Amino acid sequence: MNDKVFEPKIIAFCCHFCAYASADLAGSMRLQYPSGVRIIRTPCTGRLEVEFYMRAFENGADGVLVAGCLEGGCHFIDGNLFAKKRVNSTRNILEESGIEKERLRMVNISAAMATNLVTVINDMVNTIKELGPNPIRKSIDGSGGEYKEFETLNSQK
Ligand code: FES
Repeated sequence: MNDKVFEPKIIAFCCHFCAYASADLAGSMRLQYPSGVRIIRTPCTGRLEVEFYMRAFENGADGVLVAGCLEGGCHFIDGNLFAKKRVNSTRNILEESGIEKERLRMVNISAAMATNLVTVINDMVNTIKELGPNPIRKSIDGSGGEYKEFETLNSQK
């Protein structure tokens, strides 16, 4: 019996101007979130391509969070709206491939919304805990799973 507790690895792409500042504020406020959450700063969520999300899953992420500015507040005008479309299309690709779309989520947040960001992160961690490890990761770990699912995704490009 495996008595290891599953701690999800979550990649959080945070836009520099709002979400990253919010994560920074969360640190200053000593708000806590699980250590399996890795924050990656991006100039704007509009910079993120579908490939970024798929690579994160391919490399073992159990979940991916995209955190951008509030709608209407993007410093590159509509980057977060482009990001929203890409996240939604990636969620469809995941679902068609048998991977739960809940593993990818986007949130819009301002620099002052540190508490909201931590709430979203903790909620996502709980969701991923219920879903279990990313099936692609399972195959990387050698614990079973269907690696060919990702190859199918690659061939759809
Ligand atoms: Fe924050 Fe575009 S600058 S989402």
